[in-house]
Amino acid sequence: PYVDTKVILENADKHGYGVPALNINNLEFLHYIIEAGVKKNSPVIIETSQGAMKYAGNGDFRKGAEIFVKMVKAFADEVDIPVALHLDHGKSFEHIVAAIKAGYSSVMIDASEHPFEENMKITKEIVKIAHAAGVSVEAELGQLAGIEDEAVAAENVLVDPDEAKKFVEETGVDFLAPAVGTSHGAFKFKGAAKIDYDRIKKVKEYTKIPLVLHGASSVVPEFVEIAEKHGADFGGAKGVPSEILQEAVKCGINKVNTDTDLRIAFVAGLREFLNANPKEFDPRKYFKLAREYTIKVITDRMDVLGSTGKA
Ligand code: G3H
Ligand code: 13P
Ligand code: NA
Ligand code: ZN
Repeated sequence: PYVDTKVILENADKHGYGVPALNINNLEFLHYIIEAGVKKNSPVIIETSQGAMKYAGNGDFRKGAEIFVKMVKAFADEVDIPVALHLDHGKSFEHIVAAIKAGYSSVMIDASEHPFEENMKITKEIVKIAHAAGVSVEAELGQLAGIEDEAVAAENVLVDPDEAKKFVEETGVDFLAPAVGTSHGAFKFKGAAKIDYDRIKKVKEYTKIPLVLHGASSVVPEFVEIAEKHGADFGGAKGVPSEILQEAVKCGINKVNTDTDLRIAFVAGLREFLNANPKEFDPRKYFKLAREYTIKVITDRMDVLGSTGKA
């Protein structure tokens, strides 16, 4: 069934596991996520960026939001696992309102590039509107970008646990994404991968709400290799290894945002298949390996995070 993201995450928080939140832009990735969830009996959170809304609506983000809700509900209604639809990195008021109106289960207001007080003010406003519509809200504190470069990874871009406490109390936000050392995309760390566990623990202790890890893709070496073997150039790609994700979950992370891993698994399968089958031009056939690899990356993640069997 189609559920509130809050139901999924409060369960995860109570029982100490993580749930993958998986980005989609099209029908295929939705298929794969639902299939993976059913296979592992895991709850799933599906998320779309503002750009995905525009893409799905062929330029019209409001239409895109409506299409996503209809698509996700059509699948959610037919399976026994909990399925939620979330707006990822909502930055514009118009997109957030469009997602709420269309029927998203939850929205993110990402005002993290603003100073603390301003972030708090904007977030509070969105919480008021969203909660009135029965939609739960995620917000972000601290900054993810610039972390790749060791020298730029200054303390002040990571979340301040005392600020997190004040932020959650003042805004009434349902989930919080604290910046703890990850970044978006396929190139997360120049040296060894590391995140700030103590900071996660403190934020959890001070806020006691479900926490979100952004930029959490593992950039699975197996799929990077397959893609590169068949023509891709992902030199220097590095993600967050499984052991670090498991430790982060132990510290209090419950929602684990994943986009890059699906993109890489898919493109690895697509390249491999097309290379081996130069005469094929039917998408239902040339997506065969892309589908298989994308499902594999999702089901592995469910095992790693502990959401397997929790539907
Ligand atoms: O955090 C962003 C997600 O990976 C989606 O990115 O804006 O390319 O759709 P996007
Ligand atoms: P990745 O780029 O690590 O997949 O992160 C996705 C994300 O945080 C979406 O909000
Ligand atoms: Na941000
Ligand atoms: Zn993110």
